[in-house]
Amino acid sequence: SVTKEIVVLPGDGIGPEVTREAVNVLETVCKRHGYKLKTRSFDVGGASIDRYGRPLTEKALEACKEVPAVLLGAVGGDKWNEEPKDKRPEAALLGLRKELGLFANLRPITTHQSLIHSSPLKEEIVNGVDILILRELTGGIYFGRPRFIEQTSAGERGVDTLAYETHEIERIAHKAFEMATDRNRKVTSVDKSNVLDSSRLWRRTVIDSASQWPEISLSHMLVDNCAMQLIRDPKQFDVILTGNMFGDILSDAAAMITGSIGMLPSASIGEKYAMYEPVHGSAPDIAGQNKANPLAAIASIALMCRYSLDMPEAAQEIEDAIQATLQDGFRTGDIASNPSKEYLVDTSEMGSAVLKHLNPKMQ
Ligand code: NAD
Ligand code: IPM
Ligand code: MN
Repeated sequence: SVTKEIVVLPGDGIGPEVTREAVNVLETVCKRHGYKLKTRSFDVGGASIDRYGRPLTEKALEACKEVPAVLLGAVGGDKWNEEPKDKRPEAALLGLRKELGLFANLRPITTHQSLIHSSPLKEEIVNGVDILILRELTGGIYFGRPRFIEQTSAGERGVDTLAYETHEIERIAHKAFEMATDRNRKVTSVDKSNVLDSSRLWRRTVIDSASQWPEISLSHMLVDNCAMQLIRDPKQFDVILTGNMFGDILSDAAAMITGSIGMLPSASIGEKYAMYEPVHGSAPDIAGQNKANPLAAIASIALMCRYSLDMPEAAQEIEDAIQATLQDGFRTGDIASNPSKEYLVDTSEMGSAVLKHLNPKMQ
């Protein structure tokens, strides 16, 4: 169709600051390729709590089901930290993932040549890294029941449940093998099967699923070792397949290979719907200062163009524009490393710099 329609959920903190730049980029590539862009925006998270008394409204959720793709900024902030768990901003995000069935979270970690010195790791370790962390997103300890805090004679007791079912493991495993087929055909499944029963089932199920993918080389790694290996020699990895909480933690650690959490995009994909979100959070420490790096949100738009909007060329153009912008020397504070060769810019200047590479008329 000639119209591309998305829902935007800016959220809290730096969420609105980075989604603004990302939507500008989508607007520009749509124009360039002859599409009309239609966006509808809804409050989620703390913003929605303040306005409607709950983190996710039915209206926002239903709107997300009417479009091929949703862009989410970030949710959360100190203001709402004392809310009960179902009323916290984060409940909006978890609710969206669950209600939209977004079981596969793609978190690509790729280094930009011009940011090699923004990483605290050595050049030879980070140069050329290209990893896809595939995080299971609707199961595991995030959603297991029961979960509660209770009074005991000794004080209080907090309980969460880590459970995975065969079908949940199978579908994410097949996604990993499918993704690896278009990459270097290597999957490392990460678990804690030396301790956890859910991980023992995970490993066995992944092995069983792999029999349908003879061209993929599958290996297994314990999560603590994986955290270490990501820092020691990240180039050994192609696709990392892992559960909900391990994927959350490993991806923030892996962010530092690229130089900053402000660089990591993600795609959350299910059978019917899709949501695109930077990996980072609402960054309360820099919110409202126009300081946040918008490139994670902008790169998430590239993923959206590729996986949901049927605009593969636009996806490539956005990724090229990000690369060119970094080559020009533009840096937000989080990725700055050499003041004499770089221009320190704010969120909107970084967004505009990317736009210039997409729309030469602006120069
Ligand atoms: P965070 O990712 O918000 O911030 C961690 C650190 O990284 C901070 O120092 C922050 O300034 C920096 N940072 C993050 N994004 C950046 C960017 N784009 N540019 C420059 N610097 C950036 O993690 P946190 O501080 O642990 O969490 C803050 C809040 O965000 C919490 O309420 C948490 O629940 C929420 N959160 C939400 C999401 C989401 O909505 N997807 C993800 C993670 C955390
Ligand atoms: C992320 C975030 C979320 C998660 C929180 C905010 C619920 O950290 O998207 O990585 O843990 O999944
Ligand atoms: Mn996280």
